[in-house]
Amino acid sequence: MRFVKITALLSVSCLFCSSLFAQTYTEILGRPTESSVTISILSDKKTEVFWEYGITPGVYNFSTAIFIAAKDTALEVDFTGLSANTKYYYRTRYRLSGSTALFDAGAEHTFHTQRAPESSFTFTIESDEHLYDKKGVRSIYQIALVNQAKDNPDFMFSLGDIFGDDHQAATVTSEEMDALHKDYRQYLGKICHSVPLFICLGNHEGEKDYYLPQNPPNNIAIYATLWRKFYYPNPFPNTFYSGNPDIEPYGMGQPENYYSWKWGDALFVVLDMYRDQCDTSAKPKNWDWSLGLPQYTWLKNTLENSAEKYKFVFAHHTRGEGRGGITTANYFEWGGYEADGVTWGFSTKRPGWAKPIHQLFVDNGVNIFFQGHDHLFAHEVLDGVVYQEVPMSSDSTYTLGMLANAGAYVSDTVEGTATQGVVSHDETPAVNVYPNPANDKIIVELPEGIKPVQISLINAMGQILLQTQSNTIDVGSIQNGIYFLNIRSNSFEANKKVILSR
Ligand SMILES: [Fe+2]
Repeated sequence: MRFVKITALLSVSCLFCSSLFAQTYTEILGRPTESSVTISILSDKKTEVFWEYGITPGVYNFSTAIFIAAKDTALEVDFTGLSANTKYYYRTRYRLSGSTALFDAGAEHTFHTQRAPESSFTFTIESDEHLYDKKGVRSIYQIALVNQAKDNPDFMFSLGDIFGDDHQAATVTSEEMDALHKDYRQYLGKICHSVPLFICLGNHEGEKDYYLPQNPPNNIAIYATLWRKFYYPNPFPNTFYSGNPDIEPYGMGQPENYYSWKWGDALFVVLDMYRDQCDTSAKPKNWDWSLGLPQYTWLKNTLENSAEKYKFVFAHHTRGEGRGGITTANYFEWGGYEADGVTWGFSTKRPGWAKPIHQLFVDNGVNIFFQGHDHLFAHEVLDGVVYQEVPMSSDSTYTLGMLANAGAYVSDTVEGTATQGVVSHDETPAVNVYPNPANDKIIVELPEGIKPVQISLINAMGQILLQTQSNTIDVGSIQNGIYFLNIRSNSFEANKKVILSR
């Protein structure tokens, strides 16, 4: 028995010894173009590194120069001179700096250069990772990443509220912002070696007009910009990407905060709702929210000059910190109306601007606007534009957003939308559900002549509790809470939130 214990101890000790000399590194791809991609490597030791790549698995006809990656310092290197519309295979060659040993070889990874028109491809979206607070469950987030990798996407988006944390904005230090941004390398590094990452900024990133001028350079916005750019390669304007041309002070340079590019038959446009507010208050409201005229003008030109068949626009949220999708889209800068919904305010509040953002989308054929922030899944359509709310990627219960924010949505789609893609929907006809809140019975009133094919009562976890073909639903056996009625007829499908309260 004593011998066994000693053996085990020696084994652990040796493993520890060898780890002293091995590098641990993560790699994140970004900025894919028709002829290049950027790789960011972060190693825990000073490392000599180069990359081999080619268009056939295991055959690497090309290689980069040898670079020195300083300890804990992300190094960005571009693979250039690539062929368009091509899948590449690559591997990392590395050794400790100063070593004369042969270079070790990392596992083979892949990426794809810009797709040609009429190509089909996949991209994925995650949002509201929130690992910096108790809402974010790391094990669930890692499952979400694995699932994205299984889709073999050309690239992925985060729609923001990923790095945070602005809850202690006045006192947060640069070291803390460093740690918050570095934290994601361990997770994103597991798939983004083969899935280029695009970051869309959220309200909790702290990169706001309100914070930028406060005691610079010692504020959350500057810390966050610097550390985001240190760890993650986002696009800046060049011959492939368009975006924000500003050069910001204190070493921030180009903020890499809004940008667009073309891939296959699609235009991709990523917006930033936070860096150029009209009113630089901590919690802007109503007309205070703005893209700012430069970003608005860029968006308008980008959409109007695009001949792409599909147009996808991404932002953390229509109103920065409000709630809802199409229920927000008629108001203020996004829709032009004052809060009463009938008074046109755009002409006086945005003098010289052509039209509200939603109308830009309609007039230029935007297919889908993707947003996060509300931590639930909702698929809505307004004037032919899909407003797709993306759920929280680290939510273990799917109740946080549903309980808090589902009321801001008119169509919470629990099932059946995953394969809808780019299609145009007519508005759902009026469906009345009453009483609501309900006690023991719910009546579903449909337009004249329409009969339900199936009505399902669904809880916040997406579980079906009851199904019926009757307009009168007996809910006496269901406990109090918030639920959804999925109502299907031969001509449409609708979802209604219902509350059971006795
Ligand atoms: Fe948010």
